[in-house]
Amino acid sequence: MQILLLGTAAGGGFPQWNCWCPSCRVARADPRAAVPRTQSSVAVSADGLHWFLLNASPDVREQLARLPVSDPIGARRVPIEGVVLTDAELDHTVGLLLLREAGRLPIYATPAVVEMLENGSHILPVTRAFADIPVTLLALGHPVPLTTREGADAGLTVEAFEVPAGPPRFAPAAGVGHTVGVIIRDTAAGSSAAYVPGCGELDDALLGRLGTADLLLFDGTFWTDRELIDLGISDRTAREMDHLAISGPGGSLERISALHCRHRVYTHINNSNPLLVERGPERAVVERAGVLVGEDGMAFTLV
Ligand code: MLT
Ligand code: MN
Ligand code: ZN
Repeated sequence: MQILLLGTAAGGGFPQWNCWCPSCRVARADPRAAVPRTQSSVAVSADGLHWFLLNASPDVREQLARLPVSDPIGARRVPIEGVVLTDAELDHTVGLLLLREAGRLPIYATPAVVEMLENGSHILPVTRAFADIPVTLLALGHPVPLTTREGADAGLTVEAFEVPAGPPRFAPAAGVGHTVGVIIRDTAAGSSAAYVPGCGELDDALLGRLGTADLLLFDGTFWTDRELIDLGISDRTAREMDHLAISGPGGSLERISALHCRHRVYTHINNSNPLLVERGPERAVVERAGVLVGEDGMAFTLV
């Protein structure tokens, strides 16, 4: 199975257009000192030919240019087989609108996510005016096969599992399954990757599940719980925004660094996070703990 990190920033990207926090300033002044990133999205493939997106970010157009595409026979080729969604947040779903030229755009999501896309953000009805959108519903805890555009088994399954988080701001009444993590398994090789871009808490049951994956891509949104408050950007803590901060006692680093996954990687990193500064002390702490900091274009092959 091949996993390609297409985007590793949280909503807004890095640097964010309206932000002059310390890390955004570094990224603007010297992109080698703090490498720019597009918004959180992953591509997975069992054979290197048929790719699925995990979330469709507002940066999907430039992100898809990273996928290997062989010359089509006709004038058009849609380089993805479908899109798996972990939630209905705008940074993970606006890309669906931008993929409307696909003609047919299969999606895989929980009933709660589909409901929010239908009646909350209205992204599905709007996109459906341009493209056929077959929906495969994901029941929590049940692996579902991913299928190519030709209807063949793609050699992968997706399993959604609930993570502690609140619903998006535009859908406050969303039901169970509004925010999930997913495990992608290569059915022939048996390898697996967990993708959890938003997670408000890590209990033992969730850690146990994540620890079974060969590759863990985990919520690296904030370094501290008070990050945005201390920068004068917001009055909400990281937890109140449903993101468990990385650092400190009870933070995600001490918990995920103890897992036996072959690779542990932070992604969905907010522009305010000092971890984005290449030679900063925060980067050193994370790397010393054996956790990678996701960067756009980072690739993993699981056998
Ligand atoms: C989040 O990750 O908390 C959301 O994407 C927030 C947002 O709307 O940008
Ligand atoms: Mn987000
Ligand atoms: Zn910033």
